Amino acid sequence: MEKPWSGRFSEDTDRFVEEFTESVSFDKLLAEEDIKQNIAHVRTLLRAGVLTEEEVEKIIKALERIRKDIDEGKFTWRKELEDVHMNIEAELIRRTGDTGGKVHTGRSRNDQIATDERIFLKKEIAEIVDLLKDLRRVLVRTAERTVDIVIPSYTHLQRAQPLRLAHYFLAFREMFLKDSERFLDCYRRVDELPLGSGAVAGVDFPLDRFFTARELGFSKVVRNSMYATADRDFILEVLFCCAVTGTHLSRFAEDMILWSSEEFSYVELPDRLCTGSSIMPQKKNPDILELIRGKTGRLYGNLMSLLTVLKGLPTAYNRDLQEDKEPLFDSLRTLKGSIAGMTKAVEGMKFNEDRMKTSSGNLTLATDLANYLVRKGVPFREAHRTAGRIVAYVTETGKRIEDLTLEELRRFSDLFSEDALDLLTPEGSADRKNTYGGTSREQILRMIEVAKREEGL
Ligand code: ARG
Repeated sequence: MEKPWSGRFSEDTDRFVEEFTESVSFDKLLAEEDIKQNIAHVRTLLRAGVLTEEEVEKIIKALERIRKDIDEGKFTWRKELEDVHMNIEAELIRRTGDTGGKVHTGRSRNDQIATDERIFLKKEIAEIVDLLKDLRRVLVRTAERTVDIVIPSYTHLQRAQPLRLAHYFLAFREMFLKDSERFLDCYRRVDELPLGSGAVAGVDFPLDRFFTARELGFSKVVRNSMYATADRDFILEVLFCCAVTGTHLSRFAEDMILWSSEEFSYVELPDRLCTGSSIMPQKKNPDILELIRGKTGRLYGNLMSLLTVLKGLPTAYNRDLQEDKEPLFDSLRTLKGSIAGMTKAVEGMKFNEDRMKTSSGNLTLATDLANYLVRKGVPFREAHRTAGRIVAYVTETGKRIEDLTLEELRRFSDLFSEDALDLLTPEGSADRKNTYGGTSREQILRMIEVAKREEGL
């Protein structure tokens, strides 16, 4: 097949090179964006007096038919034509002859690919932000039904202090809210038009790039043609946002995997979301959560991969940049799947309240003992030591802190009186954490109200 650059070449491209250099097998995902971009470009060429009204109409009609063929799976993608841009352009020329041959005036694939990617990413970011919102709404709903369940919190994976379960879900809601904000912040930098930058130096025809930007719904125009074609920071940022969100999903998944183990037995996933073992009949595995955790590896790898491609690259377009697409597409697909999977998992989750109740209390109330003494005037360091002795005592005798009698408590300090006994409940402990952002019932109810308002619930 004749190449657009055949003019200066004296032999056909080696088959291996065609196979090795092609990108159409994956960048055809950008077909819709490429067509939109072609339409905006010919309209800009019309305004610049390069194309006539008639020519533009003919090209747009043909592009629309090509779009339809692509949508219906009737379009033949050719590897010999390298990428999505040349496939669509070649087909346009086949259908419109010399008119189609004018479409690449004042354009390079270097500004073309950056434009397609930015159009594509604006849509993708919006989708991710929507998915994150769905997940946050489920978390808020889950928080609403778990305000009165008290669990031990864990620091260093050792029981720490009583925590209302709703507080846990609201913590993840915060993370996914920041993730959304991070994506939206990076959206502002994605939302700039590179087209009209040409190969590197700008374009010889009087293209009104601000018009093109309006046609394509971009808020800004990239201000430097070299930067416009060399830059992939906007993709790095998206990959970073995906990686951070992946970290949150992975930590959340890890907690839930742990909590669904027989040892914890705090939560249970419905059968429809689990899989069994081919050998052990008793198994019910939380694969969906394990895969969310596992797929985070790709999200990190894809970010690393593009960082490495960009490092040391001579400044302007280099073919290396073609390597941006597979990591990007993979991260977007992976992250969208993982967010949707997590939303389903949380929606279907059941909580074993009894089990959580028996795990909370006891040693997690040790700080409460110390704070009781502090309120009676004991310096915290000394109160800490006294409470530590009580911990040693209950550990040795196999008792629980909340079951201690006043007489027992007074063996450690005569400042203990009747009211100490009332304080020693997991709920009471949680509710004394009444600082802004704490795990008291009052604070949580207030945060649920805030969250509902913010999520439009
Ligand atoms: N397929 C190429 C890429 O993804 C498009 C740009 C090619 N530009 C070029 N001068 N060969 O980066």
